[in-house]
Parts: sequence; structure tokens; C-alpha cells
Amino acid sequence: MASPIKIAQQVAGFDSAAVEHLQRLIRTWGLLADLALGDVLVMAPTVDDPEVYVVLANVRASTATTVYVHDPIGDRHRSTNRPLAHQAFVTGELQRAVVQLGPHFPDGEAEILAVPFRVNGEPVGVVLRERRVFQREILLLEQTYLDLSDRIMQMIADGYFPFVGANEPQYGAPRVGDGLLVLDENRRVVFQSPNAVSALHRLAIHRTPTGLRIDDLGLDDSFVRTAYAMKVGVTQELERRDVTVTTRCLPIIKDDVVEGGFILMRDVSELKRRDRMLLSKDATIREIHHRVKNNLQTISSLLRLQARRVESEEGKFALSESVRRIGAIAIVHETLANDASEDASGDDAPFEDVARPLIRLIEEGLQSPDDPIRFVLDGEAGRLPLIRSMPLAVVLTELLQNVVDHAFPKECHPADGRIVTVSFSTEEDDLIVSVADNGQGPPVGFDFAEARGLGLTLVHTFVTAELNGTITMVRGDGPDEAPGTATVVRFPRTWEDRVVGPAIDA
Ligand SMILES: Nc1ncnc2c1ncn2[C@@H]1O[C@H](COP(=O)(O)OP(=O)(O)OP(=O)(O)O)[C@@H](O)[C@H]1O
Ligand SMILES: [Mg+2]
Repeated sequence: MASPIKIAQQVAGFDSAAVEHLQRLIRTWGLLADLALGDVLVMAPTVDDPEVYVVLANVRASTATTVYVHDPIGDRHRSTNRPLAHQAFVTGELQRAVVQLGPHFPDGEAEILAVPFRVNGEPVGVVLRERRVFQREILLLEQTYLDLSDRIMQMIADGYFPFVGANEPQYGAPRVGDGLLVLDENRRVVFQSPNAVSALHRLAIHRTPTGLRIDDLGLDDSFVRTAYAMKVGVTQELERRDVTVTTRCLPIIKDDVVEGGFILMRDVSELKRRDRMLLSKDATIREIHHRVKNNLQTISSLLRLQARRVESEEGKFALSESVRRIGAIAIVHETLANDASEDASGDDAPFEDVARPLIRLIEEGLQSPDDPIRFVLDGEAGRLPLIRSMPLAVVLTELLQNVVDHAFPKECHPADGRIVTVSFSTEEDDLIVSVADNGQGPPVGFDFAEARGLGLTLVHTFVTAELNGTITMVRGDGPDEAPGTATVVRFPRTWEDRVVGPAIDA
């Protein structure tokens, strides 16, 4: 199904000015159809055969039933089948008639109004209003809608409408049903719909507006003045305490004179409130990360206290290892709490910002400062959501701790000094994290799959179960006395989300 713009360009030969004007018209569609109490369509003669018209766009009213049960966009009609449209196009005059409807509406009649659609004075197509007529009394509200619709259709025929340079509302454009005030040439209210009265009540205005101007009601009416003076639609938000009403004033122009106007008004307080809530949601998530981090630090302190009372060295060691692991997780939360970058959402952060403090944590735990290890960070990891960065932080801590614990025995002093490099790279959608040291290398006959220490068991579990990735750990290609160990973790950045929390078999 081609879009209105494509059909306009390719079938009806619209140039860019005509396309722009059509887009402007389509932006006001809802208003046009609602006032019309029926369908509004744009047709234009085809380039191939000017006696054939193609439907470019249509809109149905939310205030009435449609004449079109199918989607008419792209339909073609001979001028003889659409005499009113054809007449309006060739004469440049407004055409009106009541016609018998097709087979879908056995007893139906419709009133058709056809006006030329002009761009810079030249007709490029036809705007049609097609509305079912029923044998019943028309309500005052409906009559008001139809009168306004007539006047707008005339403005389209005269080339005044759609307005060029009208400003658009920020929060949901008000529709006719939201509230309607009709004004005379002196900007005085001549009609108010029940919903307009309600919107005014919301703004704490309880006077009946009939005969009054907007500023007589105590509201800022500069949007009405501007609309009348500039002859364009003007939108303004009226605020009173926690209530916001979007108002839009459209002038009615005839023979270059503003002979009236109308105001649509919609209470958007709820929309605005939700918008504000979304903004503060990010702040809330950050606050939660901050508290989680604090709680983890409390847990670490409790374990440290416990470690002091434990007699056995093994027990002390086990508890201090736990302190370190909890610290790694706390760092992730701290990073998410502090991430103030522009695209921060409170749920993801650049992983480098996690890796750097992790490395610092390991460095601080180094036993012998006179045998330093240099930590190098290389490449970019990019942003990772919490469900990736949390397991990755644990994995990285274990790998780095292993370097500290096992890579460099006393006698191992590589020529370039002790170095461990953490590098990030991306391949397709995978993030590749490698930890490489220039130490003594894994023990002879070491098989990662068989490794049973808690550290590598954690690493294995987190990489496969949490990151859905793979891991390899091999002897490096350095000199025999210090070949080094290279561990490479690879996992997809995007992967079906799941609840955070590692599944560790106890
Ligand atoms: N960078 C490395 N260089 C040399 N050997 C390593 C390196 N990383 C791991 N290893 C070897 O792999 C073994 C298993 O490591 P793992 O982390 O599972 O247990 P651990 O470090 O001994 O104990 P834990 O981590 O539970 O405190 C280590 O004991 C060590 O022999
Ligand atoms: Mg270990």
C-alpha cells in the first residue's frame, strides 16, 4: 500500500510545494473530519489521464459514521463517475449535492461537498467532504460543527487553509470533542461546547463565557490575538496550579478578513504529569542502585567483622574472598548510580566505568607493593545493561584476582615487568573481553573444563548461564619462562532478557 505522499508524487505528479501543502492538510485531518461529521478525502487528476482521479488520502470522523467501509487510498475514478470533484477542479468553485449511496448503504444518502485544493493559487486537486444524511433533527452542537466545517472548506477553496507556519502543540493536539469555543470577529465567545466549559472549570473559571473574550475570563488571550493578527493557527498552554490546558485558536478568514475563529481546548495535565514521572523514574532507579550499593557494603563490613573473629586461616581467607566478590557487584551498582551521561537510563552504563574501579579494587588488595603489577585497559566495551555488566564484573574480578594469586610467583619477573591487559573488542553483536598476563602460565596439563576452584567455577557459571557466552583459557605465546595466560570471554550484547541473579549450584 503506497503512502499518500508517494501516490501524490508518482501518480498525480505533485511537486515539492504541493506535497508540503498536502502534508500540512493531513496534519489537520482529525479536526477536518470531526467538524465534517463525515469523511474527508483528497483526490487529484492522474498524470497519465487527467480525466481519471486518484484518491491520495482520507480520514474518518470520530464524531460520525463513515461512508467508506474500505480503505479508499489509491482508488481511481473516472471524472464522469465523480462529477462534483471534476466540476470543483475545472471550475475552481465549491460544489455541493446530495447523492444516493452505493450498495453498502441500501437506503443511504450522502451530502458531498467538493472544493479545489490550491497551492499558490493553482488547483492541484480536490478536497471532498462526504457525510451521511439522516432523517432526524440535527443537534445544536452538530450544527455548529457543520457550520465551522463549511467555513473551513471554503477557506481550503480560497487557499487560506491549511495555514502555513502554524505552530504545533507539544502535548496531544486538542480535537473537537475535547472542547470547542467559537468566537466572533471581535474575539467574543458565541458558542461553547460542554467539554470546553469543563476545561474552563478545571482552570478555575466558573463564569459562562458567552459574550466574553478570553482575557475577560482572566486567561492570557495572546494566542487568540496572534491567531487573528497573523491569520494562522496558534497553540498555547494555559496553566493554573497543577492544571494544564492546551488551547489552539484557528482564525476563520474570508476575503482576507478575519471574520471569526474557534478555540479547541484539551486538559493535558495527566499527560504532563506522566511525562514528569518518566523523567524522575531515571532518578529513582539511580537512587535504588545507590542504596543497593550501600547495602552490599554493609554486608561486606559484616563479613569483615566476622573474619576477624574466625580463628582458622582458611576461614579468614574464605570470608575475605567473599568480601572481594561482593565488592565487585557493589561497583556495578555504584557505576549505574553515578552514570550521569546524556543517554543514561539508570539501567545501563559504559562497562569501562565498571572495569576501572574493579581494577583499582584488585590493586588495593595486592599483597606486596614492591612487586607491582601493571594493569592496562584497552579498547571500548560500550554500554551494557545491568543484566550483562553484573555477571561480567564478577567474571573480570575472578580473572584478575587469579592473575594476582597465580600468575606471578616470586621468581617470575618478566623482562617488561608484570603486566596484565584487559581488552574489549566487538565482533558482530558479540562483546569480546580478554584478560592476558605475562606470568608463568597455567599449570602443565591444565584443562579449563576440569578446573574446580571456586573462582573458575563462578567464571564458568556466569559466562555460560548468565551471559550465554563462551570462554577459553590458554597458555600464552610468551617466552618459556613466562608464557602468560590468555583468557577470552565472548558473549552476545543483546540476548533475551532475564531476571538478574546467578544460578549458582551450591
Ligand atoms: N592467570 C593465571 N596464571 C596462572 N595460573 C592460573 C591463572 N588463572 C588461573 N590459574 C590456575 O587455575 C586454577 C584455578 O583457579 P580458580 O580461580 O578456579 O581457583 P583458585 O584461584 O585456586 O581459588 P579461588 O579462586 O576459589 O580462591 C588456579 O589454582 C591456578 O592454578
Ligand atoms: Mg581464583
